[in-house]
Amino acid sequence: MKAELEKIEKEALELLKTDLGLDEIKALQVKCLGRKGLVTGCLRNVSSLPQEERPKIGQLANKVKKVLEGAFKKALKECSAKEARPGAGIDVTLPGRPLLRGTIHPIIQIMQEISDVFSRLGFEVLEGPDIESDYYNFEALNLPKDHPARDMQDTFYISENVVLRTHTSPIQIRTMEKRQPPIRMIGPGKAYRVDSDISHTPMFHQVEGLMVDENVSFGDLKGILTIFVHQMFDETISLRFRPSFFPFTEPSAEVDIECVLCRGKGCRVCSHTGWLEILGAGMVDPAVFKYVGYDSDRYTGFAFGMGIERIAMLRYGIEDIRRLYENDIRFLHQF
Ligand code: DAH
Repeated sequence: MKAELEKIEKEALELLKTDLGLDEIKALQVKCLGRKGLVTGCLRNVSSLPQEERPKIGQLANKVKKVLEGAFKKALKECSAKEARPGAGIDVTLPGRPLLRGTIHPIIQIMQEISDVFSRLGFEVLEGPDIESDYYNFEALNLPKDHPARDMQDTFYISENVVLRTHTSPIQIRTMEKRQPPIRMIGPGKAYRVDSDISHTPMFHQVEGLMVDENVSFGDLKGILTIFVHQMFDETISLRFRPSFFPFTEPSAEVDIECVLCRGKGCRVCSHTGWLEILGAGMVDPAVFKYVGYDSDRYTGFAFGMGIERIAMLRYGIEDIRRLYENDIRFLHQF
């Protein structure tokens, strides 16, 4: 047992000379001096030794215990002082960890670009709430309850008279309610419809546009939209206005642009027609002016609404709309 005690002492002291951390020192201390530790074990076994050996070994065991207690106390003190120093344990020569930098989502980038183009044309950028009343989303846009055109939009209802807005058009009503002409505004934002497939997501983005003043004509609408398309895509893209119907405009049109991918030749993206539909537009229906108290003998205006996802997909060559909402950073980082 003498040799054993000397070995424990020697090994522990040698280990303490190496560069142990606080936790390692504590673990070694438990191993030697803990209740089930090596020295403690020896001390307990002294009583089982022959009578004549007991005092000597007992003394030795107590001495080893004292020496180790002192050594552990000192080592713990030194080590905690060292670990408390600023910069302790940090290897300043290691290369830094790269920071994951965010990027602006492609939809938001396109929204900002659209806003920039219209700002330069004197349009203000205004917003409205995503949760809308039936009145702003439908009624004041000349879509009374039971109007068949309401079926065009699969609405998320929150209650009988509260909906998730199905388009950004309520922003034009809110604007006209608050202000008198002249008005030139666009309203970018989210819209919601019960719809989900390769080209529809239940939440999507639109930009609404409105210009009201004396003598605003369909020619102004064509001019503004042409400038917009030329700035967004390129100066040589042609536009096409097709007659259509919206309850809030009369006359109404759907606007196509020459397919930006095949330049009108016909390809998969334009379903071999050479044209891409990008927005709905028209002259504000006098019935809408009535709701907001404008004099439709004095004022005329145009309005339009376009989907932002469509424009982002065309600009960036994205084929599946759902990619935009999967939050895959590897995908989003490309834009
Ligand atoms: N609100 C229409 C939709 O979501 C788009 C639209 C068409 C907006 C014509 C307009 C407009 O302001 O004049 O389908």
